[in-house]
Amino acid sequence: MGKKLTDKVSWVGKTDWELMKFHGDEYSTHRGSSYNSYLVRDQKTVLIDTVWQPYDKEFVARLRRDIDLRQIDYIIMNHSEVDHSGALPELMREIPDTPIYCTANGAKIMKGHYHQEWNFVPVKTGDSLELGESNLVFVEAPMLHWPDSMMTYMTGENILFSNDAFGQHFATESLYNDAVDEAELFAEALKYYANILTPFSSFVTKKIREILALNLPVDMICTSHGVIWKENPAQIIEQYLKWADNYQENQITLVYDTMWNSTRKMAEAIAAGIGQADPSITVKLMNAAKEDKNDIITEVFRSKAILAGSSTINNGLLFSMGGILEMMKGMKFKNKKAAAFGSYGWSGESVKQLTKALEEGGFKIVDDGCRMMWVPDEEGLSSCIEYGKRFVESL
Ligand code: FEO
Repeated sequence: MGKKLTDKVSWVGKTDWELMKFHGDEYSTHRGSSYNSYLVRDQKTVLIDTVWQPYDKEFVARLRRDIDLRQIDYIIMNHSEVDHSGALPELMREIPDTPIYCTANGAKIMKGHYHQEWNFVPVKTGDSLELGESNLVFVEAPMLHWPDSMMTYMTGENILFSNDAFGQHFATESLYNDAVDEAELFAEALKYYANILTPFSSFVTKKIREILALNLPVDMICTSHGVIWKENPAQIIEQYLKWADNYQENQITLVYDTMWNSTRKMAEAIAAGIGQADPSITVKLMNAAKEDKNDIITEVFRSKAILAGSSTINNGLLFSMGGILEMMKGMKFKNKKAAAFGSYGWSGESVKQLTKALEEGGFKIVDDGCRMMWVPDEEGLSSCIEYGKRFVESL
């Protein structure tokens, strides 16, 4: 059965406690997730978004327990990515003529996915749908985070159905933000922003300002993943404005990989130098071959500067560093400084290659980096400590 949110709105989604990977292997979901779908019952009945395909039959069966499916007058698809549209084929087999309201891009993408000529009704910002006592008003939100994304505002109930924006991959039974572990919630919201929305930060700022200018009362933000923001929903909007504004904390993260521990020893010595130069800085060391890649991206997002380290192998970088640097490049981080370090035996290309990759990733390079031949001895480690101190001074 759905969970009642207001007299007119119920949550009819799926909580996925076991989900550990999302987007294939691209996003780790340590705390599961949910695919939030909402049923709105006024004089008209509306379904907002569906769930991921593996749960399509369960979703439609549960929906049928709540309502005769033929009573659904409209379907709203705020976003066509498969975690929200995946149950459409199963549902549309039952109610094939039901109009699907979405953006023009949304219709194109769903046709590209499902190859069905469903009754798509393209909408634009400001278009609305009368339901009786309440209306649904559409707000396009392109690139938050796909070209088709939109939000839907419900008058009367004052609910913003924000889809992916303000979401988190976070399974909860209780649905509301004030009924979960707050530290876990914000850790997941931050990870979600850092890994999914960072490249689109300028769109985030613009869209939020546009919505705030409308002065709409918002009693709840009903996201498509994780909690519903009911207690002080403005807090996540304010947090997004901060995260979108070249966010950084007083943190330096060293991301490295190492073959025989020389580069690790360098990382630890550089970290010691940073700590000696300014004990107020939070320093984190992350071995890219061992740590979760999305956690690394989250820590880079929080950092004002990073150091990338790799041993040299076959005239290049260690595998894990190639991967994480490619992810960082895609994030289009701004306003962050960086340098490279690494050990080598003979040719020693890694530091140059790391520096180039960091530069291509939009980091401001502060110097030529720090290289050590073979295993650093006491003198070598001392020079790494001094390098760490100089790195702090260069920020
Ligand atoms: Fe939750 Fe972009 O899909």
